[in-house]
Parts: sequence; structure tokens; C-alpha cells
Amino acid sequence: MTYVQYELNGQVGILTINRPDALNALNSAVLMELDLVLDQVDLENTRCLIITGAGDKAFIAGADVAEMSSMDEEQARVFGEFGNAIFRRIESFPIPVIAAINGYALGGGNELALSCDIRICSENAVFGQPEAGLGITPGFGGTQRLTRVIGSTSKAKEILFTCRNIKAEEAKEIGLVSAVYSSESMMDEAVKMAKRIASQAPIAIRNIKKAVNEGLDLSMEDAIQLEVDLFSACFSSEDQKEGMLAFLEKRKEKSFKNR
Ligand code: COA
Repeated sequence: MTYVQYELNGQVGILTINRPDALNALNSAVLMELDLVLDQVDLENTRCLIITGAGDKAFIAGADVAEMSSMDEEQARVFGEFGNAIFRRIESFPIPVIAAINGYALGGGNELALSCDIRICSENAVFGQPEAGLGITPGFGGTQRLTRVIGSTSKAKEILFTCRNIKAEEAKEIGLVSAVYSSESMMDEAVKMAKRIASQAPIAIRNIKKAVNEGLDLSMEDAIQLEVDLFSACFSSEDQKEGMLAFLEKRKEKSFKNR
């Protein structure tokens, strides 16, 4: 692959958007490779995915403006649908996905981060949705996920309408990211968090992700029913037996088998 690298660190997959000359901007080729790399993730043995950007300046500086500049309406629709399909895939990926944001996360970069389960960033991270200044709306889910993630239509619209940049501290304040770390330590912290997630029972983690994500689109009554279904389903797993036995035996070491 030219634009997307993938490596395994134990049970943690690290996916790096690697187009530093263009600040990791998402063109069609990058999106295609991203889709292919997601196909290759071994879901049986990988417990958590981290997505980051190559270099120390950018996570992803947006969709590729040069490529978009000559698109007509139909081509833009195809590009938008393709990007959205991949981001939706990330959002509903069976295992947790952490965005490790190491610099600019603008436009499609912020939208990709919004599709992840958890966002952490380095202190030099800059967020924003500059699309309106380019004559377009966000096209990879930003108008929908920003509000849902930060929980305020007023704040989301202010960000979307003004196209202003948001620095790391403000991103934390408004709930766009969970934590801010120094540039040197951010990836280590992402891996530490991913490994901690990887040490929990994998079926339980998958069910929790499903319950949180799908529950948000349901009435409270249906959402609670969904949780009951996913909770009770855990009881037919070997890992539930192991997790509870380890507690009762006062044993710290657990051997979860994803079964
Ligand atoms: N699409 C295409 N190319 C991009 C890009 C994008 N979204 N973002 C950056 N690049 C390219 C630049 O064109 C430049 O290429 P060049 O060296 O061939 O000229 C290279 O990446 C470096 O960017 P540059 O603008 O020189 O860096 P900078 O430090 O001066 O500014 C940014 C950094 C992020 C502020 C600036 O690149 C920027 O505003 N990018 C576009 C952000 C955007 O509007 N994203 C939303 C798109 S929908």
C-alpha cells in the first residue's frame, strides 16, 4: 500500500494514513486503500484499532481539495458516498477504534475522527470544518456526527458556520476529544489505552460498542431492551465464566478467548 500503513502491536492494530506531503489529505486513492486495509484487519485476534496520521504535523488535513476542485455534482456525490461508506464502516467496526490525532484534523480529518469511538490528541492538534469557506458543506458526516458527539447544536453550528480552528484544549473542553497529551507521549498513551481495552473480555467490548452506538438511534425503551439482549448474550460465552471465576478466585490474570 502507498498511502495507508498497517501494523500490529500485540492485539492492537495501528493504521496510519501516510501521505505526509499533502498533510495526509484524503483523495480517492487514500480512501480506497483505507477500505482495503479495513478488510484485512484480523477481527478474530485484533482487539482494538488505532488510526493516526504520518508525520508530526497532521492527522488528516481534510478531503483532497485539489481532487475535489474539478468535480461536477455527480462526481461529488460518488466521492461523498464512498467516503461516507468507509467512515460508517469505521463507526460500526466490530472492535473499538481510537483516533490518535497528532496535528491538523480538518474537514474530512475531523470527520474521520468523529467516526471513531474515542478521540485523543496531541497538544498541537487543530480541529475544524472549513468546508463552508470552500463553498461546500462537510461531506463525510460532519454535519451529523459533530452535533451528536459534542451534544450541542449551538456549538456544532457555530463551528460549522464560522469555519474557525479549534485548538486541543478547547476540543477537550467541548468533549470533542477525551484527553490531550504531549506530542511525544500521545501515541504511547493511545497504545496504552488500546492495550487496556484489549485486556477486557472481547465479546463484552463488542456488545458494549453495539449497545452504545445502536441505542442512540432507539427510544429508551428499545435501547434498554437492546442492552438486556446484549447483556444476556454474554452469559453464553466462555469469557463470562472466566471473568467471573477469576474474580471469585481473587485471580488477577484472566485468559479471555473471544469465545
Ligand atoms: N487537500 C489537498 N492538499 C492539501 C490539503 C487538502 N485538504 N491540505 C494540505 N494540503 C497540501 C498543500 O496543498 C501543500 O501541498 P504543496 O506542498 O504541494 O503546496 C501541503 O499539503 C502542505 O500544506 P501547506 O498548506 O503548505 O501547509 P501549512 O502548514 O502552510 O498549512 C493547513 C496547513 C492545514 C492550515 C493548510 O494546508 C490547509 O488549510 N489545508 C486545507 C484544509 C482544508 O480546507 N480542509 C478541508 C477540506 S474539505
